[in-house]
Amino acid sequence: MLDRFNRQINYLRISVTDRCNLRCVYCMPEEGIKLIDHGSVLSFEEITEFTKVAVEMGITKVRITGGEPLARRGTVNLVRMLSGINGIEDLSMTTNAILLPKYAHELKEAGLMRVNISLDSIDPEKYRLITRGGNIQKVFDGISAAMNAGLSPIKINCVIKKSIDEPDAIAVKKYCGRNDLIARFIYEMDIEKGEFGIVHGGSGGDCANCNRLRLTSDGFLKPCLFSDISINIRKTNYNEAVLLALEQKPKCGLNSTSHKFYNIGG
Ligand code: 5AD
Ligand code: SF4
Repeated sequence: MLDRFNRQINYLRISVTDRCNLRCVYCMPEEGIKLIDHGSVLSFEEITEFTKVAVEMGITKVRITGGEPLARRGTVNLVRMLSGINGIEDLSMTTNAILLPKYAHELKEAGLMRVNISLDSIDPEKYRLITRGGNIQKVFDGISAAMNAGLSPIKINCVIKKSIDEPDAIAVKKYCGRNDLIARFIYEMDIEKGEFGIVHGGSGGDCANCNRLRLTSDGFLKPCLFSDISINIRKTNYNEAVLLALEQKPKCGLNSTSHKFYNIGG
């Protein structure tokens, strides 16, 4: 399906929760967040029904994000429900990998194809500081589990401050080279201030070629990460919601004050 600017929209990112088991400094406040109440979180049935319609309309790539998607109970079941939809060519997940030792095999078996894993530093102490308490060994174990399960290719998302040549980024790049992982570097963004940039090694941040729609865990379809435009999928039929998102997708993003990374999923 095409939007007003002739961009081919074929990618749906689904945030399944705003919860997370880490507290990365650039993503969440230390004390945690005001969580979306359980009642307004989309059920797996709602997500699956919506996705079915979106796939019929032209979506071929689906990514499950969060918060931390594995922090929601039953995410493996959602993967199984989504992988049953005919027409999804690429079904992936963005995760911090902490729970992958537990879930990698089940995820693969349920039909997940691959994972992107967040890792900003390979130094244990630095990682602990960035994530406010995360244990990097669990991430390394999670990466091994994903590899053993065949959830590949595995991409590593590394958030950088200023340049891809900063020491942590260089170390992550080397680590990826040694371990058959694909590194992607993402500038730290501020969506409220509208600060965003392209993703090195990935496809984000390039408005002219943007192919995405986003579904938040509380049921809003957002045509752009950097815009407040959102459509409540519980108030329109799903087909209509997708058409409205296509119609309203801005040529280029500005900023968003209504949602944050942990409920749009980066
Ligand atoms: N800037 C850039 N990326 C961010 N993420 C979360 N917050 C930000 C931010 N402020 C991304 C990270 C992480 C994913 C879950 O969300 O890339 O890997
Ligand atoms: Fe959690 Fe990812 Fe946000 Fe870190 S960046 S707090 S791992 S959702």
